[in-house]
Amino acid sequence: MDDFVTRLLADPTMLRMGHAQRAEDQNLGLGWLYYSFARLVRHPQAVVIGSWRGFVPSIIARGMADNVERGELLFIDPALADDFWHQPAKVAAHFTALGAPNVRHVRQTTQEFAASPEHAALVEVGLLVVDGYHSAEQARFDYLTFLPKLTADSIVLFHDSVRRMQSPIYGKDRVYEHTVCLFMDRLRETPGLEVLSLPYGGGLSIVRGQPLSRDRIDAPF
Ligand SMILES: C[S@@+](CC[C@H](N)C(=O)[O-])C[C@H]1O[C@@H](n2cnc3c(N)ncnc32)[C@H](O)[C@@H]1O
Repeated sequence: MDDFVTRLLADPTMLRMGHAQRAEDQNLGLGWLYYSFARLVRHPQAVVIGSWRGFVPSIIARGMADNVERGELLFIDPALADDFWHQPAKVAAHFTALGAPNVRHVRQTTQEFAASPEHAALVEVGLLVVDGYHSAEQARFDYLTFLPKLTADSIVLFHDSVRRMQSPIYGKDRVYEHTVCLFMDRLRETPGLEVLSLPYGGGLSIVRGQPLSRDRIDAPF
């Protein structure tokens, strides 16, 4: 694990995007939680929606590979921020070099993936991370796309989900506001769900349980 952390944090692009990570003391920040959930849930299928350079997918995939169950991490990202995820061979080599060859990237939006035979064939997801387009509406779409695949023990993590903020990630002329926190409020009001929001870095919300009602989830923002 030490080698994995050293290699990951040696890449300056892995120090961005608000996971409270820090190279000085080899500190993964929220990454310790991502790794812990992979080791704790021990399910052979995880899904991560959205990543800048693979910080979250590689850490969770590494945790899964360290379990006897092993398993695969499905990484959904259409590469809308830049071309980093464009070439499949380069993407595979990137994750292999990080020590996480069990990441499988699908270059699609969640909307495209939801309509694919692959989504229909996916049976169960033990761990889901939502870190794609950070509007409340998209976070809801991401969650509902995988809700039928979650088990009673599954964990869902929403990054950048504790406060509103402006993001220039799609260009200085296309700044948009993160509003995932509004969807977290809806989940908090939904019976059957537990939600814990942590303010570190960009903020992380941990959600577990099955909604007993869709009323608050489906209400317009
Ligand atoms: C870089 S990450 C992290 C979010 C970032 N901190 C921000 O400010 O928005 C966002 C990723 O989400 C992906 N993305 C955008 N829209 C998406 C969608 N509809 N489905 C899946 N991924 C999406 C982008 O390609 C991008 O790589």
